[in-house]
Amino acid sequence: MEFKQEFIEKLTNAKRIVFFTGAGISVESGISTFRGKDGIWNKLKPEELANFNAFLKNPDMVWEWYQHRRQIIHEAKPNPGHIAIAEFQNYFEDVTVVTQNIDNLHRRAGSKKIFELHGNIERNYCIDCGTFYNSPDLDISKGVPKCKNCGGLIRPDVVWFGEMLPQDEYNSGEKAAESSDICFVVGTSAVVYPAVYIPMTAKQSGAYLVEINIDTTEFSRYADYSILGEAGKILPLILEEIKKIRKG
Ligand code: OAD
Repeated sequence: MEFKQEFIEKLTNAKRIVFFTGAGISVESGISTFRGKDGIWNKLKPEELANFNAFLKNPDMVWEWYQHRRQIIHEAKPNPGHIAIAEFQNYFEDVTVVTQNIDNLHRRAGSKKIFELHGNIERNYCIDCGTFYNSPDLDISKGVPKCKNCGGLIRPDVVWFGEMLPQDEYNSGEKAAESSDICFVVGTSAVVYPAVYIPMTAKQSGAYLVEINIDTTEFSRYADYSILGEAGKILPLILEEIKKIRKG
């Protein structure tokens, strides 16, 4: 694949890289996206599943759905896209991953600096006293697990509709975006706010914006370079290009 010369030049000079990722990067690991033809929100209602009131009304159903997703995520493995992103760390001064995904696959692939805007399915907390629990430590034999300290219901530590994003994660992601030379927007429809302010901030701060997606999106018009294709194929090709540049 021939990349645009302007992009090669940006890669040659860049020191700080931000990856802003969404569900599309995990498709090649077997995890569904939210929107589009086979998207989760086409078949299931977010207001019944990804919502605090829904959890209070029907905790068993919501818990069961997250348990099902946990299972899929546990069985999934990082794909060549996640692995290529982790390998970028060998070639640049700073590589930050700001992800909307809750699946932990960037961490499992070896990325070190990750900010999770929508939480992480491996973590959970008590809705009454806030005690944290890792998923493997929970007793789920009797349905929704209860807090050992206060008996409250335990929920997954993911951001539901109408909830605030974790402020520290967002602020750190925004800071990385402000000082990035290249921001890659990978596998996201880029329609969910405020997460999308991260690549917007990068662009406003002068970063070169590269979109990698199998389709064009609402966001494509902001990109300096849109690369159409699967993240698991395109990212390793970009890494090859970087290796060539570094060899000189
Ligand atoms: P979406 O489902 O909205 O978008 C997935 C994107 O991935 C689409 O633009 C696809 O074209 C693209 N795509 C699919 N396969 C791909 C591949 N192999 N390589 C590259 N791109 C591919 O998912 P997100 O943008 O992540 O929030 O959705 C954002 C948020 O909406 C999620 O974090 C979730 C959801 O509601 C919460 O749960 C808070």
